[in-house]
Parts: sequence; C-alpha cells; structure tokens
Amino acid sequence: MLVMGMMVVWLGCGVERKYEDYHLPPDWDLTLTQQNHPHGFRQTKCFYCHIKANIHEVDRIGHALFPSAKPTVDAQGESSCSTCHGTNGN
Ligand code: HEC
Ligand code: HEC
Repeated sequence: MLVMGMMVVWLGCGVERKYEDYHLPPDWDLTLTQQNHPHGFRQTKCFYCHIKANIHEVDRIGHALFPSAKPTVDAQGESSCSTCHGTNGN
C-alpha cells in the first residue's frame, strides 16, 4: 500500500493533483440537494468544476456503489452522474 502510494506521488510529479474531498456524511445516500450542493446545484456541466481524474479516487464512506463509480463515469461521462447523484435540481 505504501509503495503504491509512493508510485502515485512519483507519477504525478510536476502535476498538481489533489483528490476532491467534501467531508461527506458517512450515511450519505449520494443525492445532491440545494443544502449539500449550494455551489453546484442546478448546474449541468459537472466537469467544469469536478475534475474527472480527481473524483471517486478515495472510498471514504464505504458506499456500495463506489466500485462502479469510476467505470460508469469513464463509459458514460456527465450523463451518468444522475444515476447515482440524482437530478441535481434539473
Ligand atoms: C460551479 C461549480 C460546480 C458544478 C458545475 C458542479 N459542482 Fe458539484 N460541487 C461543487 C462544490 C463547490 C461542492 C462542495 C459543496 C458545495 O459547496 O456546494 C460540490 C460538491 C459535489 C459533490 C459532493 C457532495 C456534496 O454535496 O458536497 C458531488 C457528488 C457533486 N458535487 C456532484 C456534482 C454533479 C453530479 C454535478 C453536475 C450535475 C456537479 N457537481 C456540478 C461545485 C460544482
Ligand atoms: C455508480 C455511481 C456513481 C456515479 C455514476 C457517479 N458517482 Fe460520484 N460518487 C459516488 C460515490 C459512491 C461517492 C462517494 C465516494 C466516497 O466514498 O467518498 C461519490 C462521490 C462524488 C464526489 C465527491 C468527491 C469524491 O470523490 O468522493 C463528487 C464530486 C462526485 N461524486 C461527482 C460525480 C460526477 C461529476 C459524476 C458524473 C460524471 C458522478 N459523480 C457519477 C458514486 C457515483
């Protein structure tokens, strides 16, 4: 694990790379609301603010859908977000 982590740091050399962390509640159902997403609510261009390579990198809340998040986003892009995160007010 430590070796893997060191490799990531090494490969990321020269690139400012920080995984997104919003201190999600441990029991979060993944649904975006006006309350938990005030700065992104009703927005549609998710990748404008969320860098694809920096999301779904760390399994912090142990949600059952975590393992499928990256493959789904890779395959279906922005149109997939609502599958797990709801309509975001749209
Ligand atoms: C204008 C920038 C912006 C856009 C566009 C945006 N977001 Fe966000 N997102 C944020 C910010 C900032 C946060 C941190 C919470 C906050 O302050 O609203 C966040 C947090 C999140 C979170 C973590 C949970 C939370 O509420 O903290 C998820 C999931 C998320 N956004 C998904 C999306 C999806 C899906 C879309 C597209 C439908 C999207 N975002 C569009 C800025 C944006
Ligand atoms: C298959 C379900 C699934 C899909 C599809 C999905 N997400 Fe997520 N997303 C999750 C889960 C589960 C988490 C919680 C990860 C954790 O434990 O921190 C999460 C967390 C996030 C976060 C918080 C930061 C982080 O990495 O934990 C953002 C931002 C986010 N998603 C954005 C998006 C955007 C944008 C899309 C569409 C391009 C998307 N998600 C599609 C399941 C999904």
